[in-house]
Amino acid sequence: MRPIQSERDLVALAVALGARQVRGWSEAETDLVERCGAAPRELVQAVREDIGSGADPLGTALCALRSPEERRPQGATYTPASIVEAMVGWAATTSRPFARIVDPGAGSARFLVAAGRRFRHSSLVGVELDPLAALLARAHLAAAGMDDRAEIVVQDFRDFDPPDHAGRTLWIGNPPYVRHHLIDRGWKQWLAGTARSHGLSTSQLAGLHVYFFLATACKARPGDAGAFITAAEWLDVNYGRLVRELFLGPLGGRSITLIEPTARPFPDAATTATISCFELATRPRAIRIERVESLDDLRNLGNGRLIRRERLEAADRWTPLTRCRRKVPEGFVELGELCRVHRGQVTGANRIWIAGTHSMGLPASVLFPSVTRARELFGARGVLTDTTPLRRVIDLPADLDSLEWSDRKAVEAFLEVARRLGADSGFVARNRKAWWSVGLREPAPILATYMARRPPAFVRNRAGARHINIAHGIYPREPLADVALSALANHLARTVTLTSGRTYAGGLTRFEPREMERLMVPDLPMLSAGVA
Ligand SMILES: C[S@@+](CC[C@H](N)C(=O)[O-])C[C@H]1O[C@@H](n2cnc3c(N)ncnc32)[C@H](O)[C@@H]1O
Repeated sequence: MRPIQSERDLVALAVALGARQVRGWSEAETDLVERCGAAPRELVQAVREDIGSGADPLGTALCALRSPEERRPQGATYTPASIVEAMVGWAATTSRPFARIVDPGAGSARFLVAAGRRFRHSSLVGVELDPLAALLARAHLAAAGMDDRAEIVVQDFRDFDPPDHAGRTLWIGNPPYVRHHLIDRGWKQWLAGTARSHGLSTSQLAGLHVYFFLATACKARPGDAGAFITAAEWLDVNYGRLVRELFLGPLGGRSITLIEPTARPFPDAATTATISCFELATRPRAIRIERVESLDDLRNLGNGRLIRRERLEAADRWTPLTRCRRKVPEGFVELGELCRVHRGQVTGANRIWIAGTHSMGLPASVLFPSVTRARELFGARGVLTDTTPLRRVIDLPADLDSLEWSDRKAVEAFLEVARRLGADSGFVARNRKAWWSVGLREPAPILATYMARRPPAFVRNRAGARHINIAHGIYPREPLADVALSALANHLARTVTLTSGRTYAGGLTRFEPREMERLMVPDLPMLSAGVA
């Protein structure tokens, strides 16, 4: 049998499976269909049988034809069946049947078909921006025998206006993960304005999944329920505050399940995922929180330990609440007891603030050898002794009058160039005390990388190098002897693994400063004795 070799093959197959029978047909789909040929009969039959046995061959074929890189701008990562089943299973444990199921960002309709099998009388609505995915969703629903109760709306979910009278609705799916850089200004204004109208504040750095949570909170009605799987970032980062507040407020959050990256929830994206389940207009006194290491453990979704709502309200970060309280072994403390961890300074424009031909003539007093690339720390093999290979960061005093007259002239000439390059107009520069003053931190005795696909490097900084925001600086709260600092750096380098941090979409593991402060290290007497 001829395999599916192109998107045209997929379109032809979708048409043959009955895609047109599902309501909501769009012009964009007509355009796609016009260019396709006919699908071989035996292929149509084989795909129909696969769908009948519970598989999603159309979605799988689309993911094979489009690489993860091609799908990333739409946040198109389809959800494995075991996760879909667990989420639909949770929905079935809620109080009453659903009149309607809505999947925001329906993809190939995995959630709708699974929910349609479980809830045999519910109408099924998928909202999907990508016409090819919409076409596949229709074909999937038609082949599964659900065309008479299904509708696919080819639209941006944020614009979707569901009819009010449909009855109790389940909002279920995997909202697209798209970073804020790809979200246009108009939508950012929508986010800020809509959040404000709920008395909530938001950040311009929010990714698209945050918009989907807010849009759901606006469209859903009391009595509705929902289950979304997303990247886990929103549990902890500043821009996730909006989701945390929606979860504890209008969405009526009931449970959070964090899926460790070791469970590989998404085969083509190494990430820490989280499933949030909610029932609108409820306000449980405690939320169920759990952490699972394997997809098998998802079978009883929503059965984690109860954490009082006030603890979640008071916490800036929720990931720590998913961990059982840790026992500190005898002779160990958290790094944060001994040291503060600070991210290096953001320059706002490395091409300007890292010295180069554009800054010739600047005096040495404003040029600071700095770690500006993670590889400089990985290459140091534990100790940085020489600043010669490092690049110089230009750090001017906020008060330019403090410069010697001759230096001042060179600095003024550089600032002319910098202005021409737009250095005074960037977001970071505009928010500094003086736009020309980067404000590097003092040299940290230990430097660490914090984002990579490998464990972080911890490096004794004997060279007195500064660092920018590609590294964290570890600063003792009280002066530490050299032997203790070396023991500390050695211990961290030897014991910290990727699993101690958080893994983001794309497979990068990242340690926020406060996370690094929670690492276990030998206590001061042991470090002073050189025990690593
Ligand atoms: C993470 S995928 C999930 C697909 C499917 N629900 C699943 O879980 O298998 C997100 C889907 O949202 C779609 N999408 C992206 N932006 C959208 C938007 N603004 N409105 C509606 N759908 C969107 C993408 O095309 C993609 O199919």
